[in-house]
Amino acid sequence: MIIFPSESQTLHTIEQRLRELIPARDETIFEAARYSLLSKGKRIRPMLTLATAAVFGVDPLTALDPACAIEMIHAYSLIHDDLPCMDNDDLRRGKPTLHKVYGDAIALLAGDYLLTFAFEVVANANLGREQRVQMIKTIANRSGAPGMIGGQVIDMEQAGKEIDEETLLQMHEGKTSALFIACLECGSLAAGYPPTPLLQSIGRELGLAYQFQNDLLDTTVIPGKNAGGDAANQKQTAITLYGAALVKEKVQSLKHSIQEKIKQLPNQGSQLAALVRQILEGS
Ligand code: IPE
Ligand code: IPE
Ligand code: MG
Ligand code: MG
Repeated sequence: MIIFPSESQTLHTIEQRLRELIPARDETIFEAARYSLLSKGKRIRPMLTLATAAVFGVDPLTALDPACAIEMIHAYSLIHDDLPCMDNDDLRRGKPTLHKVYGDAIALLAGDYLLTFAFEVVANANLGREQRVQMIKTIANRSGAPGMIGGQVIDMEQAGKEIDEETLLQMHEGKTSALFIACLECGSLAAGYPPTPLLQSIGRELGLAYQFQNDLLDTTVIPGKNAGGDAANQKQTAITLYGAALVKEKVQSLKHSIQEKIKQLPNQGSQLAALVRQILEGS
C-alpha cells in the first residue's frame, strides 16, 4: 500500500510547488497572484487530489501539478467571490482581500490569470496525453457553468429571496462539491483509473458537508475572516433554510455516509479517510 506522507510534509510540498509555478517577479500581475495564492489557505483541494492518487496505488506526487492547478482555480474563485460586485468582503485568509490592496481591476485580472494558467499547468504536467486531456475536461466542466460558476450564479440570484431545498443543494453542489469532485477525479486519473460514480458521490457529499460547515462558520466569529457577511448580503444558506441545529445534524449524517463510501475504495480508502476526518473535524 502506498503510504501518504505526513500532512505537514505534503502541505510543504504543495506550498513549494505553488511558489515554483508562479515565481516572484517584479510585475504587478505576478505579485497580485502570489498575494492570494500563497497566503494561508488550508489546501484542502490539493490534499484531496494527492490522497486520492495514493488510494489508487500511485505515488501521490504524480498528481502534484493537477492538484496545484485546482488550488489556483480555487484561489481565483475566492478573489472574484470577494469583489464588491459579489460578496464585497475585505478580509480573506487573515489578510485584506486582493482588491483592497491592488484595486478591483487587478483583482479581476489576477483571478483571470490564475484560472487560465491552471490549464497550462495541467497541459504541461508530466502525465500521459490522455490523462491530461481527461483532467482538463473535468476541471473545466467542474469549475464552469455546470459546476462552480453555476453555483455562484445561484448564490447571487437567490440573495434576498427565500430558497427551497432543491435550489440550496444545487447551489452548494456547484459552489463547493464540484471542485471537490474534480480533485477526486484528477487523483484517480493520475493513477490511471477513470473516475467512478462512488468517487464522485464522495466528492459531492464532502463538498456539501464542507459548505454546510462554512455556512455555520459565517455565523461565528473566527480570526481572519469577517463573520456575518452572508446575513449582511441577505444570502440564502443552509442556516436560513434549516437553522443551525439541523445543519449540524446534516453534517453528521453526511460524515457517516462519506466514511461508509470511503471504506469501499481500495485499501478501504485509508489515505483519504484520515484526511476527510480532519476536514470535517470538530463537526
Ligand atoms: C472557502 O474555501 C470557500 C468555500 C468554498 C467554502 P476554504 O475553506 O477551502 O478556503 P481556504 O482555501 O482554506 O482559504
Ligand atoms: C465561496 O462561497 C464559494 C466560491 C468561491 C466558489 P462563500 O462566499 O460562501 O465562501 P466565503 O465565506 O466567502 O469563504
Ligand atoms: Mg460567495
Ligand atoms: Mg464569500
